[in-house]
Amino acid sequence: MIDNFPRIKLGHFPTPIEYLANITEYLDGPEIFIKRDDCTGLATGGNKTRKLEFIMPDALNSKADLIVTVGAIQSNHVRQTAASCAILGIKCLVVLEQRVANATEAYMNSGNVFLNQLFDAEMVLCPIGIDVEEYAHEIMDKKRNEGKNPYFIPVGGSNHLGELGYIECMREIKEYDKDGLFTHILLATGSGGTQAGLVAGKNIYKSKAQIIGISIKDNKNDQEEKVFKLTNNSCDYVGEDHVSRNEVIAFDGYVGGGYAIPTEGMMSAVKLMARKEAILLDPVYTGKAFAGLVDLVQKRHFKKTDKILFIHTGGSAAFPAFEWAFK
Ligand SMILES: Cc1ncc(COP(=O)(O)O)c(C=O)c1O
Repeated sequence: MIDNFPRIKLGHFPTPIEYLANITEYLDGPEIFIKRDDCTGLATGGNKTRKLEFIMPDALNSKADLIVTVGAIQSNHVRQTAASCAILGIKCLVVLEQRVANATEAYMNSGNVFLNQLFDAEMVLCPIGIDVEEYAHEIMDKKRNEGKNPYFIPVGGSNHLGELGYIECMREIKEYDKDGLFTHILLATGSGGTQAGLVAGKNIYKSKAQIIGISIKDNKNDQEEKVFKLTNNSCDYVGEDHVSRNEVIAFDGYVGGGYAIPTEGMMSAVKLMARKEAILLDPVYTGKAFAGLVDLVQKRHFKKTDKILFIHTGGSAAFPAFEWAFK
């Protein structure tokens, strides 16, 4: 079904699903598996590779000669967009939003920011207090006046095209889990497209697993409403029935002080995954999401007979910007 939509190969798919034997034993709860979307292969990997495989054909089709996108300073989406543009030979301009107050020098310059530079993306800092999308559109108007043909990718690549990537991810999960043994799928949810694609895919590929998004910024209701809207846009785009509201579940108890502000739980989860499985989570998204998973297991939210699939959506390229938090 997804095969009918234009797609450009940017990454390595399907990504592996692995059993986390050491963490399962340590937590003494349900069996925990991981889907390695941190290994999508594009410029240190991550969830945006899947989305960009379906977004970039639209950009090429519109004969764009400039890709414009937006994100936080240490956005993984921005870095993967810049990397895709390098492969496709299109100029990339990224508008970075200063969401973190009193950011360190490392946060402003290293990690993903350094990689954007390496991929030759033009970086523009959005002035504080100005809406980043509006600012990006003003820049695009100026570029049009200079004769350019810019193409805009929304924050996180979360639109009907990007979500096709996570409908496809659900197909991969069902291919692996033919007998439908996974009871829950858990992931970090931010701009919402990853979760939306999975929820749409769950209905299409008839998975019984409950999908739980761990919010990294917004409160439960706002996050669920955002994902619900995106999911049904996706369903419209692929010609499927809408999902019901109760299929969209987000927990907001692991955000801590706010977006990208380290929490004790995140740091413990990152260390646990490193020391038990030698897998690198990230401080902004997957660290907080895995902290949620550990907490839910410890609170006996799941049954011991459950099988949980954690989607590792990438992000470790941001580590150099956060080393201070771990010292
Ligand atoms: C590493 C990582 N995980 C999860 C997410 C959240 O994905 P989404 O924005 O599709 O909700 C992001 C988004 O930027 C990310 O970079």
